[in-house]
Amino acid sequence: MAADDADIRQARSWLTSSERVTVLTGAGISAESGVPTFRGEDGLWQGFRATDLATPQAFARDPKLVWNFYNWRRQLLASLQPNPAHTALVTLEEKIPHFSLITQNIDDLHRKAGSKNLIEMHGNIWIVRCTRCQEVTRNEEVPLPELPSCPECGGLLRPQVVWFGEQLDPDILERAFAATRSCDTMLVVGTSAVVQPAASLAIIAKEQGARVVEVNLEPTVYTHQLDLALQGKAGELLPQLVEGL
Ligand code: OAD
Repeated sequence: MAADDADIRQARSWLTSSERVTVLTGAGISAESGVPTFRGEDGLWQGFRATDLATPQAFARDPKLVWNFYNWRRQLLASLQPNPAHTALVTLEEKIPHFSLITQNIDDLHRKAGSKNLIEMHGNIWIVRCTRCQEVTRNEEVPLPELPSCPECGGLLRPQVVWFGEQLDPDILERAFAATRSCDTMLVVGTSAVVQPAASLAIIAKEQGARVVEVNLEPTVYTHQLDLALQGKAGELLPQLVEGL
């Protein structure tokens, strides 16, 4: 059922009365910018599932293939712009005294839009790390060579993103949990909420007494456990939520 005006007013009033708001976003918030989601129909690249290429095993077996995939994504992302959902979260950050934005996306669109207190749980596609000396640098070259090498030591570079089977950076994870535990209201936007630990954040927020509002095109496995589910496009609903705040 599509979100109605009363639901939007309710969510807006929770935001207005909150000192601390934390937002969790997933691929769905970038869909209207043209970024393919992971589990949708278009979550395929040359017949491979993104989820099969984003693994340390795939990189060890065939780094060129994995870099070709990331070069394709870098090329696509370089020309894409934030959409009204990203911009609405920048507005929200300006209005709320303590605001945190946790994203599972690596597409950099929240930063491009102007969000500041950003926690990128899964890394960032424009950051690379040397597999030998571990040097981490921002690199916006498009495309990178098929096997890009570290300017410091010549080692093979890899994208600084979290692949399936890898641990999240403990400091980043702690920041995400802290923002989750302390918020009065949490917005969960455009995530299918199946990948841990991001998927558990909404439930932790709820257990700590926060109001949790989901914005998604469709119901997710968590919808029934949350306070309010606004069904529809993030790019349409988020601007309505922050209107007049
Ligand atoms: P998914 O592709 O699993 O889910 C996208 C969600 O966005 C779905 O629930 C859609 O219904 C919803 N959606 C799509 N378009 C939308 C729109 N315009 N407005 C609102 N909602 C919309 O993506 P994630 O949940 O982000 O991890 O996936 C989580 C993680 O799994 C990713 O960060 C990635 C992936 O494998 C790693 O790479 C480690």
